[in-house]
Amino acid sequence: MKAIVQDTYGSANVLELRDIARPRAADDEVLVRVHAAGVDRGVWHLMTGLAYPIRLAGYGLRAPKTPVPGMDLAGVVETVGSDVTRFRAGDEVFGVGKGAYAEYARAPEDKLAPVPANLTFEQAGAVAISGSTALQAVRDHGKVRPGHHVLIVGASGGVGTYAVQIAKASGAHVTGVCSTAKTAMVADIGADCVSDYTREDFADGNHRYDVILDIGGNTSLSRLRRALTDTGRLVIVGGEDGGRWLGGMDRVLRAQLLSPFVRQTLGTFMNRENHEDLLALTQLIEAGKLTPLIDRTFPLSEAPRALQHLEDGHARGKIVITGHGTTIAGHR
Ligand SMILES: NC(=O)c1ccc[n+]([C@@H]2O[C@H](COP(=O)([O-])OP(=O)(O)OC[C@H]3O[C@@H](n4cnc5c(N)ncnc54)[C@H](OP(=O)(O)O)[C@@H]3O)[C@@H](O)[C@H]2O)c1
Repeated sequence: MKAIVQDTYGSANVLELRDIARPRAADDEVLVRVHAAGVDRGVWHLMTGLAYPIRLAGYGLRAPKTPVPGMDLAGVVETVGSDVTRFRAGDEVFGVGKGAYAEYARAPEDKLAPVPANLTFEQAGAVAISGSTALQAVRDHGKVRPGHHVLIVGASGGVGTYAVQIAKASGAHVTGVCSTAKTAMVADIGADCVSDYTREDFADGNHRYDVILDIGGNTSLSRLRRALTDTGRLVIVGGEDGGRWLGGMDRVLRAQLLSPFVRQTLGTFMNRENHEDLLALTQLIEAGKLTPLIDRTFPLSEAPRALQHLEDGHARGKIVITGHGTTIAGHR
């Protein structure tokens, strides 16, 4: 099968299109014929091996242990492992797999769900990782309730575009923070107010928020706390520019150490994608409350350009790799 392969860590030019053997599904996995695969910051981190601590976390010291990148996917089940009960060959699924930038990829059945009825494969391939991160940030960690004033820093990106819509669907008043060129888009997906971080300071003290989801930009902890109510909740989801060694972890550690001593709740979390959350996202999508925002699609052979486009920071919402096979059956 055709697959994108990387033998070493580095920038997008370490990615090469090659012919490799088709993987086999383990007992609790299915093999998916991939029609679309999402591009996200997690893939970028595993491609570059940055920040360095991820190499120590088991992903490979000098080179990635999994040579085919890509996690988010949508496609058709080809075969199922002996313990799989939810799916059978021919089912259309989306979720998180291993090595999605290939014609076929393995995926554990508990990280998959049926493709939402109103989505194309292209849209479905962009949902699982960013959508479930946004869902867990809003629902579980932000504990967003109707009437809450919620600030979403990084509202125009992969996670942020889902977070704005999910917070709105939860009944919150949402302010999205992004760059000038993307303010109209953030308003279009439902933000009540939009703050352009190149012109305004959301931490100027004029507004204070019950919940802040800090998804992009690496804003200092003191500025984030200044924009939070006295008993508000800060959820640090991510943020780049934190350096090659710490990748912003110092900010996260300080937040966690401080949290027990202040009235505000300051914390972070690691997304755990799971079948139940994929079903919760499906409900929102099928109810018309959540729509994946696709910036651009690239063919599999142009995966390096897709990763470069992500790194350049121009994307509005999600980037998707499509057309993995010789025939594109992604005709939903
Ligand atoms: N905790 C978890 O489990 C988890 C899961 C998934 C992702 N993440 C992390 O979450 C972060 C965002 O991921 P993503 O996929 O949404 O990335 P993305 O698509 O690249 O989006 C980045 C966002 O950050 C914004 N941004 C950039 N500079 C900023 C600044 N100075 N001030 C405010 N906002 C700024 C961008 O806005 P403009 O484009 O308008 O400049 C954009 O909205 C990454 O660090 C990723 O690693 C964490």
